[in-house]
Amino acid sequence: MSHAAGVYAAQHDGDLRFDRDTEAGFWAIECHDVHKSFGPTKILDGLNVGFPDGMISVLLGPSGTGKSVLVKHLMGLMFPDQGDVIVKGRSVPKMRQSELLEMRTNFGVCFQDGALLGSMTIFDNVAFPLRQHTDLTEAEVAEVVHHRLSQVGLSAAAQRRPNELSGGMRKRAGFARALVLEPQVMLFDEPDSGLDPIRTALLCELIQEIHAEQGGAYVVITHNIAAARRIGEYLAVLWKGQTVQSGEASDMFASENLFVRQFLAGEATGPLGMD
Ligand SMILES: Nc1ncnc2c1ncn2[C@@H]1O[C@H](COP(=O)(O)OP(=O)(O)O)[C@@H](O)[C@H]1O
Ligand SMILES: [Mg+2]
Repeated sequence: MSHAAGVYAAQHDGDLRFDRDTEAGFWAIECHDVHKSFGPTKILDGLNVGFPDGMISVLLGPSGTGKSVLVKHLMGLMFPDQGDVIVKGRSVPKMRQSELLEMRTNFGVCFQDGALLGSMTIFDNVAFPLRQHTDLTEAEVAEVVHHRLSQVGLSAAAQRRPNELSGGMRKRAGFARALVLEPQVMLFDEPDSGLDPIRTALLCELIQEIHAEQGGAYVVITHNIAAARRIGEYLAVLWKGQTVQSGEASDMFASENLFVRQFLAGEATGPLGMD
């Protein structure tokens, strides 16, 4: 990509990464000047952000700043009033319904509570996308489901129902389900919400392990700076519907930008107030 790569590269002070950023296929996801309002309220205000392929990106920003709205745009569940969203080189707003459905099978999404179906066992929840979208036999489905459940440490819970599991187990079950179609893009919307620091650290480790094994573009939305530090290879900080700064984690944690510094340090003083 050309135009937007220049935008991101400018944030990198035109150093080495400029060359890499312009490589074809560097970005799995690109948002170009995305605007979105609900009634009179502007939520995304000319958002430019990209998430590289093959890396774990972390999207950070205060509550209510439009992170979940952005996720819906990536999946074609919402469309921009203006601007473009490109996933794996294809414009999402320009897709037909059939193309959107197909694209979504390349997305694994983990929502806060795992979003499991309460009437089904964990096995059936994880099997659901396979039964819906593939021609696998039941024996093949069982093989994939058992593999994924063992990856997330839930082999023993296959026959239990979501309400019999802890919050952390439900998140891991949601992760197993999101993985069964071997998605090219994984989105985690605040996977750490409601987890204590130890369980958050374990979930981060799991995300890292599975990413190392499967590859693809991972985008993790969180307010948790410790989690961002642990797993983020690429960071984007959003505020008021725009990217304040994005870049490789080491550069972001060394940022001179006052807002980024305040946000990543979790400090009370700085441009980010209570408004
Ligand atoms: N479908 C919708 N209709 C109207 N307002 C919405 C809708 N979805 C989100 N919003 C508003 O957009 C803002 C950003 O929401 P969200 O993306 O959920 O923030 P966060 O960054 O915490 O994930 C919030 O003020 C929310 O109320
Ligand atoms: Mg949100």
